[in-house]
Amino acid sequence: MIYKINYLENKIKESLKSLGYETDVTISPSKMPELGDYQFNGIMPLAKKYHENPINIANKLIELIKEYPEIKDANVAGPGFINLTFNNSFLIDFLNESNENIDINYNQNINKTIFLDYGGPNVAKVLHVGHLRSANIGEALKRLCNSVGCNTISDVHLGDWGRPMGMVILEIKNRYPLLPYFKEDYNGEEVDFNLTNDDLLELYPIATTKAKENAEIMEEARKINYDLQNKHPGYFALWQKIVEVSVNEIKKLYKDLNISFDLWEGEYDSSLYMDELLEYLYSKNIIRESEGAKIIDIKEDNDNKEMPPLIMIKSNGAISYEATDLAAIWERVHKFNLNEIWYMTDKRQELHFNQVFRAAQKSAIVDKTKLVFNGYGTMNGADGKPFKTRDGGVMPLANLIDMVTIECEKRLNPGITENRHDIAKTIAIAAIKYADLLPYRTTDYNFDIEKFTDLNGKTGTYLLYSTIRMKSLLNKAQSLNIYPHKITNLNSFERKIALAMLDLKRIIKRSFDNCSLNEICEYLYKITNLYNNFYSENHILTENNKDLQISMLTLTKIIYDNNCKLLDILGINIPEKM
Ligand code: ARG
Repeated sequence: MIYKINYLENKIKESLKSLGYETDVTISPSKMPELGDYQFNGIMPLAKKYHENPINIANKLIELIKEYPEIKDANVAGPGFINLTFNNSFLIDFLNESNENIDINYNQNINKTIFLDYGGPNVAKVLHVGHLRSANIGEALKRLCNSVGCNTISDVHLGDWGRPMGMVILEIKNRYPLLPYFKEDYNGEEVDFNLTNDDLLELYPIATTKAKENAEIMEEARKINYDLQNKHPGYFALWQKIVEVSVNEIKKLYKDLNISFDLWEGEYDSSLYMDELLEYLYSKNIIRESEGAKIIDIKEDNDNKEMPPLIMIKSNGAISYEATDLAAIWERVHKFNLNEIWYMTDKRQELHFNQVFRAAQKSAIVDKTKLVFNGYGTMNGADGKPFKTRDGGVMPLANLIDMVTIECEKRLNPGITENRHDIAKTIAIAAIKYADLLPYRTTDYNFDIEKFTDLNGKTGTYLLYSTIRMKSLLNKAQSLNIYPHKITNLNSFERKIALAMLDLKRIIKRSFDNCSLNEICEYLYKITNLYNNFYSENHILTENNKDLQISMLTLTKIIYDNNCKLLDILGINIPEKM
C-alpha cells in the first residue's frame, strides 16, 4: 500500500514531466488552510531552472491537477505557490487504509542498523535526575528508529571503570580493612560481605569528597584504581561485587521507566579491547608520547575552535574516559555491521565526543559508520539552575518519581480504589517523560510539577486521560455490539483529523532526521485535541444513523491506535483506567 501523499507527489511529478519539466516533488500541509489543504512550493525553483515565468508553469500544471480524482480544487497564490484541496473521498480512502494498517503512517523503509548508546549511569553512584534525559530520549529514539524501519542495538554503557572506583574501594578498605579482598594472598574465594545499594549511595559521596579534599587520599585511590585496572585479584573481585549490587538497582529503576537495553556493557567491557586498539594505533603511527602521556593529535589546519589532543593513557598510567569511548567504537564496529552510532548525553560532553569521533576517523577505525552526537539540554529547577533537592544536593531520580507520584495520586479519580499507587506511578512517569521529550532536544527546560501533571494542559496526564477515554468508548460500543468497520463520512471536525493523520508520516520523518521527539509530542497533543473536539460535538453511542455511527467509531479506533503507537514510541505506558 503506497502512502497517499507520496502517490500524489509522484503524480504531480509525472504531470510536470509531461509538460517538459524534470523535478522531484514534495507537497506539505498548507500554511494558509483557508486557501487549501496542501501546498506545492516547487514552481519557483523550476521557473529559475527553465528560465520561465512561474505563473505560466503553475497555470499549465493546475489544468492537469484539476483532472485528478483526488483533487477537488487547485489554485495559484502569490508568485507561484499551488494550493491543493483534496476530495473527501481521497481522505476517506486514506483513513480506511490507516484503519487496515496503521503502520503506513510510520514506516519509511529506512533500512539502517543504528547502535544507540544512552543511559550511561555510573556504578555505585545514585541515579540522579541528570541521567533521566539520556535514558528517556535514548529509549524514545530507539523506538522511533524501529518504527521507521531501522534495526537497533542499544547499550546502557555503564560508567564502571574510572577513578571513582578506586575511591570507593579505598573507602571500603578503610572501613573494613580485614576483608579478604585486601589480603596479599587473596585468591578469588567467595567473600561473605553484605554490601547493599544503600551502602554504596552513602559511601560514594564520602569517598569522592575525601579524595578531592586530601591529596594523599587521592594518590592512594589512584594507586588502587591503577591496580584494579591491572586486575589486582582482590580489588577486581570487590569491584565486581560493587557493579552487581549497583546494576541490580539500576535495572529496577529502568524497568519502572519502561526503558530497556540489548546490551548491559560498560567502560570495563570496552577496556578489554584497549591493547588491541593501542597496537593498531601504533601500527598506524597515530599515537605519540607527550609529557609521559600517550596522545592522539586531532587538530586540523582549518580548525578555528579549540581542539586539544585526545589523551589515551594519562601520565600516571590510567586510561582516560576518551580512551574507553574509542575502545567502545573499536569493539562495536568489529562486532556489528553498523550504519550509525548515536550517543545521547548532556550537550556539555560535546567536546569529548568531538575528540573521540575525530580520533576514530583519523585512525580509520570507522570508515562507513557515521558517528552522531545527540546532545541534550539540562532539566532545571524553578530558579533556572540545574534541578537540586531542597538542601542543594542532586535529586535522586527515584525521589523525583515518588514526588510526582504523590501529586498524581492526589488527582486520581476517587472512584478508583484498587492499585491507586501503581496507577499513579504510571501516570507520573508519563508526565515526567512527556514533559522531558516536549522541548526540542537541545533546549533546557524547568521542572514544574503542577504544570507537568495538569489534566487540562499539554501534558502526559492529559494524553493518557484522553486515550483511556477513547478506549472506554470503544469498549462500551463493543458491549452494545457496535464495531468499528469503515469510515464513510467526513464532517468538518473529522476532515481536520484526517488532514492531521495525513501529516503524520512527515512528522515522524522529521523527528527521525532531527533525532528529537518534540514534534511527535506536539503532534500527539494536537491530534488528541482535535479528536476531543469531535468527541464533545457528537454523541456516538446514541447516534441513530448506523453508517454514521460506525464511521465515527472507526475514526475513534484509528486515533486510539495511533495514540497508543505514538505513546509507545515515547516509551509511555497507558494504565487501564485513571
Ligand atoms: N557515564 C557517563 C556520565 O555519567 C555517560 C556515558 C555516556 N556514554 C559514553 N559512551 N561516554 O557522564
